[in-house]
Amino acid sequence: MTTIFRLDSSIRTEGSVSRAVADTLENAIIEAEGNDTRVTRRDLAADPVPTDAWATAAFAGHTPEDERTPEQQAAAALATQLADEVGAADVLIIGAPLYNFGVSQHLKTWFDLLITDPRFAGGAQTVKDKPAFLVIARGGGYGEGTPRAGWDHATGWLRRILEDVWGLDLDVIETELTLAEVTPQMAELRDLARAQLAESHEVARTSGRSVTLKLRNAA
Ligand SMILES: Cc1cc2nc3c(=O)[nH]c(=O)nc-3n(C[C@H](O)[C@H](O)[C@H](O)COP(=O)(O)O)c2cc1C
Repeated sequence: MTTIFRLDSSIRTEGSVSRAVADTLENAIIEAEGNDTRVTRRDLAADPVPTDAWATAAFAGHTPEDERTPEQQAAAALATQLADEVGAADVLIIGAPLYNFGVSQHLKTWFDLLITDPRFAGGAQTVKDKPAFLVIARGGGYGEGTPRAGWDHATGWLRRILEDVWGLDLDVIETELTLAEVTPQMAELRDLARAQLAESHEVARTSGRSVTLKLRNAA
């Protein structure tokens, strides 16, 4: 059986590009892997990780277990639960919109709390070489030579953690210009935006099918 860990962080449930592309990817993996594929979901918009859990868990890590406060015990238990979810997965799908030129506070809080678990601290090998997908959606355009090149402070940070710290076998599926449809000043970019979105779904389909090969090679 294959287990997919699916995380969403778009604050939209309707019209979310990251959720839609992640759905295409997830469905392609299930189609390739078979119906007994299990999906563990964490939706950070519907069910955010409490913002104070990270600091509490971080201090719990420096406190002997039998001296922890009830709050520290609860925060450490939540960190363990997040780590169990990710650690048990064969494939990771992480949806991450660009918000205010960075990641959402929900997503940052999830990472920070997870990293308090020793299995995900720097240098840990828990998920090393597992296939993972980062599904990014950005309202604007950030390509080389555009006025806002270098303003996307989400993708680089996510790559550092997922690829360099955790050692995942990471593919990034990026869709830009998602605001073109609803922003009059971006009207001339709509054809380009539609083409990019179609391309992202196609890449998601192809990548989903190729996961089977990666999992067979890893077995
Ligand atoms: C609160 C908020 C902040 C945003 N900030 C940015 C931003 O800094 N840069 C950008 O290109 N798009 C920004 N956007 C647009 C989103 O990146 C875009 O709508 C993206 O498609 C959201 O992902 P989703 O479609 O999965 O919901 C922002 C959207 C919201 C709601």
